[in-house]
Amino acid sequence: MSFVTCYLMFCVSTAVIGSLQFGFNTGVINAPDMKVQNFIRNVSLERTGEPMDESTLTTVWSVTVSIFNVGGMIGSLSVGTLVDKLGRRKSMLLSNILALIGGLLMGLSKLCNSYELIIVGRLVIGAFCGLCTGLTPMFVGEIAPTALRGAFGTLHQLGVVIGILIAQILGLESLLGSQSLWPLLLALTAVPAVLQSIMLIFCPESPRYLLITLNQEDEARQVLIRLRGYSDVEDDIREMKEEAMKMSMEKKVSIPELFRNSAYRQPIIIAIVLQLSQQLSGINAVIYYSTEIFRNAGITEPVFATIGVGAVNTLFTVISLFLVERAGRRTLHMIGLAGMAVCTLLMTISLGLVQGTSAISILAILAVFGFVASFEMGPGPIPWFIVAELFAQGPRPAAIAVAGCCNWTASFLVGLLFPKLLKLCDAYVFIIFLILLIIFFVFTYFRVPETKGRTFEDIASGFSNAAGSSATNYTSPEGAITMPVSPTSDKIQM
Ligand code: GLC
Repeated sequence: MSFVTCYLMFCVSTAVIGSLQFGFNTGVINAPDMKVQNFIRNVSLERTGEPMDESTLTTVWSVTVSIFNVGGMIGSLSVGTLVDKLGRRKSMLLSNILALIGGLLMGLSKLCNSYELIIVGRLVIGAFCGLCTGLTPMFVGEIAPTALRGAFGTLHQLGVVIGILIAQILGLESLLGSQSLWPLLLALTAVPAVLQSIMLIFCPESPRYLLITLNQEDEARQVLIRLRGYSDVEDDIREMKEEAMKMSMEKKVSIPELFRNSAYRQPIIIAIVLQLSQQLSGINAVIYYSTEIFRNAGITEPVFATIGVGAVNTLFTVISLFLVERAGRRTLHMIGLAGMAVCTLLMTISLGLVQGTSAISILAILAVFGFVASFEMGPGPIPWFIVAELFAQGPRPAAIAVAGCCNWTASFLVGLLFPKLLKLCDAYVFIIFLILLIIFFVFTYFRVPETKGRTFEDIASGFSNAAGSSATNYTSPEGAITMPVSPTSDKIQM
């Protein structure tokens, strides 16, 4: 009996276009940065007859880059309300309108001689990507078979890294990163939006939403039969019904409720810290500024080293895809954080100490590659999909909204502060990330439970039980939650 049908892969691929969009729009602004800044300068000159001073230009440029994250915070926070009202599929469909508007605004900026259109466009695209970072992991997590939920969840991150790589390649001067074509590069996001909208017509609503939220058991069964490729889906139906029954006894879970109710407090703290561990690891400092870092390390063609970063990023996400159902989330997350910490140390040494020798340049490249590779082993993919695993249907939308918003806020702060800190501390800036990585490692060791192979219901009840009793069963002497392994957990249903 095989779980992975073509139809399931089609539906997952459709959702993952949202991840690709997030990655593309994260990476797209870096390559043509000088051209866009020149454009801003020229527009201002034409309007006022005077050249824009450098500090105003830096401010306008910082706003252009970071407003994407502000949009992301708004979008990610809206996910809960949207999916509760419209369901997963319609929400994805509707979010594409934002991609079309954002792409259009940025694409027309040069024609209309207005850099404000880029800024508004980046805000709208940010909101769209904020929605994507909630919608894709939620939909994929809900249609994936339990035994493959981690591998499928990692596909979201694979979409992200491929999106970044596409943006890095298309952004080359000889392709779309040129003086005349950069507006097209920014507008390109409209293409996957149209593609996903067409593909969504052939996708079903999430069976969990149909059964648990809308109480449409027959429809849910039909969808499951199609996704799984066999007709005996009663185990899934039974598990969802149990969850539905529990949910009907609880009132709707709002965001404040997540922090008030002791059954949710533990998993929401874990979800938030895992998001912080992803962003405060410093990954985007490297993704955004790798060209500058390589240049400082004395590398003559830094752009190609940056594309190398994108390639290593993609390769290791694929490796993680195959490991995540074997090694488990917790272990991979810790391995990733530890690897990043070691590479951060090497980066500090190679960038901060002696410069200019070729051996040091090679060490710097290897340290950056190792840093990115370690990130993709765990801290990249896992935080995105584990939130859907830590919560049952009721609190899931609110939890995904909170976690997503924390992720976007942390990413905003790194984007905003890193350039200043780099100026201030030089290469020693990475020591800050080193300390944070150690803190996140310790937290993961003591607090994060393994979710591999367990049903949503089982994971959630582990937390409620731990909160309800003084938890002799669930709390180890160090305070770690060692949740009971359900009978389903070691039964890999393939
Ligand atoms: C994750 C992060 C994102 C980062 C990317 C790098 O998806 O959320 O901010 O740019 O990984 O691969």
